[in-house]
Amino acid sequence: MKTIQVKTGGAEYPVFVGRQLLPALRRRIERVAGKRALRLFVLTSPGIWSLWADAFLESFPHDDPPSVLFFDPGEENKRLRAVERLAEQLAESRADRASLLIAFGGGIVGDLGGFLAAIFMRGIDYVQVPTTLLAQVDSSVGGKTGANLAHGKNLVGSFHHPLAVFADIDALATLPARERRAGLFESIKAGIIRDAKLFAFLERNAAAILAGEPAATEYVVAASIKMKAEVVGIDEHENGLRMILNYGHTLGHAIEAATRYKTLLHGEAIAWGMIAATRLGLARKTIAPAQAARIENVILAYGPLPPLRLPVDRLLDAATRDKKNRGGVRRFVLPAGIGNAVVVEDVTDAELRRAAESMLHSAKPRAQAEE
Ligand SMILES: NC(=O)c1ccc[n+]([C@@H]2O[C@H](COP(=O)([O-])OP(=O)(O)OC[C@H]3O[C@@H](n4cnc5c(N)ncnc54)[C@H](O)[C@@H]3O)[C@@H](O)[C@H]2O)c1
Ligand SMILES: [Zn+2]
Repeated sequence: MKTIQVKTGGAEYPVFVGRQLLPALRRRIERVAGKRALRLFVLTSPGIWSLWADAFLESFPHDDPPSVLFFDPGEENKRLRAVERLAEQLAESRADRASLLIAFGGGIVGDLGGFLAAIFMRGIDYVQVPTTLLAQVDSSVGGKTGANLAHGKNLVGSFHHPLAVFADIDALATLPARERRAGLFESIKAGIIRDAKLFAFLERNAAAILAGEPAATEYVVAASIKMKAEVVGIDEHENGLRMILNYGHTLGHAIEAATRYKTLLHGEAIAWGMIAATRLGLARKTIAPAQAARIENVILAYGPLPPLRLPVDRLLDAATRDKKNRGGVRRFVLPAGIGNAVVVEDVTDAELRRAAESMLHSAKPRAQAEE
C-alpha cells in the first residue's frame, strides 16, 4: 500500500492506494477519524452496492452496519434536488455534526457526496472511497465538490476536503473496460504535464495496465495522485499552477458540451482535447515533433477513442462558453516537452480553429476519413 499526503492551506489528509482496503475499512476510518462515537453514513449507487456491499461491510459489526443512502448514477442526477433529498434523509436518520459520510463510488458519487458533506449542518466530515479509475486518480483528491445546473456541469459547489481517501484498486476489477481506459487518460495527462517517469511507464506498460495488472495499476494510480496532490498543495484554489490540470480540458469540455455529454466519456473527450492541445503546442514550438508524436502515440495506445462527427464551428462555439475562461480570457494549457506544461493566454481564434480542425480530421469516423 502507498500513502500520499495531501497538504493544502485548508487541509491535510492521507490518500491510501493499494489492495484489500475495503475489507478493513472500519479500522482504517477509525484511524483517521478517531474512535469518537461516529455515526457512519454511506452514499453509493445501487449498482456499486450490489457489486461491493459484501467487501465493504466486512469490517463493520453485523448488528450495527453504517446507514446506506442511495443515489442513482448519471450526470443528470448530479443535481441540487438530489442533495436536498439526501440531506432530508440524513436529517430523518438523525445524522448530526459528529456524523461521518463515506462517499463510495465513482466521481459523481464523490462530487455529490462531498458537496452534501460540505453543506449538511454547515459541514460534516467525510471520506472518499473511489471505485472508478477516474475517481481514484483525479476527482477524489483536491477538495472540489459540486453538482450540475441545467446550464452546465459543476456550476455549483464548494471546496471541502475529505478526512482521507481510500483507493482500493481491487474495486476496479468490475469496472467496464471503457471506463478504465477513460480514467487512464487522466493519468496520461498527469504524466504529460508533470511526471516524465509516469509517462514512460504508461508508454512501456500499456498492455499490463489495460489488463488491470495490480502492481502496474497501483503504480499508475499512486503516481497520478501524487502529481495532483503536489499541484493542489501548491495552488489549492486554481489561481496559478493548478490550471495545468486543465490540459486537454479546454477543447475536451467543448467536445462534451457540443455532443451533449452523450457520445463520449469525460476521459475520452479529454484525450481528443489533449491531441488538439499538443498540435497547438507543436505549431507554437512549445514541444518538439518527436515528443508530440510520443504523446499522441500513448493516447492512441489507450484507445480506441470514439470518433467525432462534429462541425468545427459548433466545437469552437462551445469552447468560448467554457467556465474556465476567466473574464473573457481564454487560457490554454500546452505541453512543453514531456513532463512539463505551460499556460498561455494569447491563443488566437485562428490558432484554435486550426488545432480543432486538425484534431477533428483525425477523429472522423473511419469510412469518412478514408474518402
Ligand atoms: N472533483 C473533481 O476534482 C473532479 C475531477 C474530475 C472529474 N470530476 C467529476 O467526476 C465525474 C465522473 O466520474 P466517473 O468517471 O467516476 O463517473 P461515474 O461516477 O459516473 O462512474 C462511471 C460508471 O461506472 C460505474 N461504476 C463505478 N464504480 C464501479 C465499479 N467498481 N465497478 C463497476 N461499475 C462501477 C458507475 O455506476 C457509473 O455507471 C463527473 O461528474 C466529473 O465532473 C470531478
Ligand atoms: Zn478531467
